[in-house]
Amino acid sequence: MEKHIEQIRDEAFRELNATSDPERIKELSVRYLGRKGAITQFLRNISGLPPEERPEAGRRANEVKKELDAAVKSALETAESGAPAAEDRIDVSLPGRTPPRGHLHPLTRITREICDIFTRLGFDVAEGPEVESDYYNFEALNIPKNHPARDMQDTFYISDNIVLRTQTSPMQIRVMEKSAPPVRIIAPGKVYRCDSDLTHTPMFHQVEGLLVDEKVSFGDLKGILTTFVHQIFDPETSLRFRPSFFPFTEPSAEVDILCVMCRGKGCRVCSHTGWLEVLGSGMVHPAVFENVGYDTGRYTGFAFGMGVERIAMLKYGIDDIRKYFENDFRFLRQF
Ligand code: DAH
Repeated sequence: MEKHIEQIRDEAFRELNATSDPERIKELSVRYLGRKGAITQFLRNISGLPPEERPEAGRRANEVKKELDAAVKSALETAESGAPAAEDRIDVSLPGRTPPRGHLHPLTRITREICDIFTRLGFDVAEGPEVESDYYNFEALNIPKNHPARDMQDTFYISDNIVLRTQTSPMQIRVMEKSAPPVRIIAPGKVYRCDSDLTHTPMFHQVEGLLVDEKVSFGDLKGILTTFVHQIFDPETSLRFRPSFFPFTEPSAEVDILCVMCRGKGCRVCSHTGWLEVLGSGMVHPAVFENVGYDTGRYTGFAFGMGVERIAMLKYGIDDIRKYFENDFRFLRQF
């Protein structure tokens, strides 16, 4: 007989545990605990048992009744509180689904790397407008109207006097107009030229640099730029300063590094010169200082400008600049 009540109990709990539907729970409660329920029936039939078994069977049946009653009440409470049904419950022990993770664009990374190097050398970062006046982009930088230097850059004109900046050099003027020496800034940003081929895109990025103080020499320029090249490429990188021309610097120099492809032997990438151009630089032209009202007798300075895409191409060995802007994940994921 006692086996019987245990069977009823097992069955009742199995069914109760398998559901979280309130209607079904109520149904089970009636089926086991109701007036005609299995447990009630069992208690009623106790009188048919041998007398010595009756007390134990009665005690156990009442115990099960109480236990089941409590379980039904608590199951109903949970079910009606809106807890998810057993089949909808989340298995928190399953491993999570990892969302695909993005990362910085290679040009953003290189720009930050360049800025970090100069920040450690004491430079501040300055930013300015991409739509620029003719005055800041050309005139104040000693590139007067009709000067042949304007032919070096194919400019997007918004109107006669407004252009998309062709270089970040106008930031030199904007910074010097606002603050007296000493000045130590770099200016990263987008620039625009009407040009498009394997190594040119109509929009690209530059970082400009300017340092002005008393007694600044070409030696300081060489020191800072050598440090920069060694940090952005490799401490062993060979570099050279090659005489050049820019209207806003005198003397001017371009910085080349030994070709990363052929190590100076001469190849297609370096046009068989053994060297790769990395940036332009020079001592700030006195005419530029005069345009911002700096005392040319007291202050000297140097400036430099570099293309971010160019540095990134040399660093990563990429031969087509357009890859940076096509948003092809097969390319971008490699960085
Ligand atoms: N602005 C020049 C260009 O776009 C780069 C440059 C050269 C900047 C020499 C400088 C500099 O500040 O001194 O080609």
